[in-house]
Amino acid sequence: MNHPNFNEMAGRLMVALDYPGVEEAHKLVQALEGIPCYIKVGMQLFYAAGPDFIRELKAKGYAVFLDVKMHDIPNTVRGGAESITRLGVDMFNVHAAGGASMMRSAREGAEAALAADPSLKRPEIIAVTQLTSTSVETMNNEIGIPGSVEQTVVRYAQLAQTSGLDGVVASPLEVPAIREACGSDFHTVTPGIRPAGSGLGDQTRVLTPGEAISRGSHYIVVGRPITGSTNPREATETILKEMLNA
Ligand code: C5P
Repeated sequence: MNHPNFNEMAGRLMVALDYPGVEEAHKLVQALEGIPCYIKVGMQLFYAAGPDFIRELKAKGYAVFLDVKMHDIPNTVRGGAESITRLGVDMFNVHAAGGASMMRSAREGAEAALAADPSLKRPEIIAVTQLTSTSVETMNNEIGIPGSVEQTVVRYAQLAQTSGLDGVVASPLEVPAIREACGSDFHTVTPGIRPAGSGLGDQTRVLTPGEAISRGSHYIVVGRPITGSTNPREATETILKEMLNA
């Protein structure tokens, strides 16, 4: 695809490698060769393939988001963040629901790794607000948080920002409210992306790639619309075209 902003836009598309092992993941990376997209590795693949696969992606030149959503006591998260930073990833995340002290510890862990090895790059640290699969009924009645999803997401975003984090994961529906509360430099990473005509799966708060970009998402995360496609490269290029036209 020849578009002057193609590479820049590809860097804002995070492809979720939600696979059981390296074999399937390698196939997709091969199919997307030459497209400089961001690669997101979540718990399914990371728990199976481990740090070696991350190092391999970094050696190939990819920006890597390690999406393991840490949520534990501050001391444990500090240690986890230090180990993750040593892997050389570009982004990782924690749950905002872990609270301010836990989020600050994530940052301290990353900084400890950087102090020990100045050749490392500081990863972006992002807080998960409300999962994009969570409906307002689930949030109110099961998790026990009253109010609207948007109110909760904005409150978590402000807490993440004052705790020194770089941005949040949220639905693209909530991006305008987050930008208004936290400013446009505070990054938004938005899963829950469904190109017109693709199945929802377990997601509930969704928008199309073009709508997400128009609303101001810094990064969009796409899994099944690409990984479940019979032609993942074509699916990726179609999404990128839509992002470029937005
Ligand atoms: O297949 P799909 O496009 O729904 O994949 C979305 C990806 O984004 C999954 O890897 C999922 O773990 C991740 N994610 C999410 N909602 C969040 C945070 C991460 O769907 N709030």
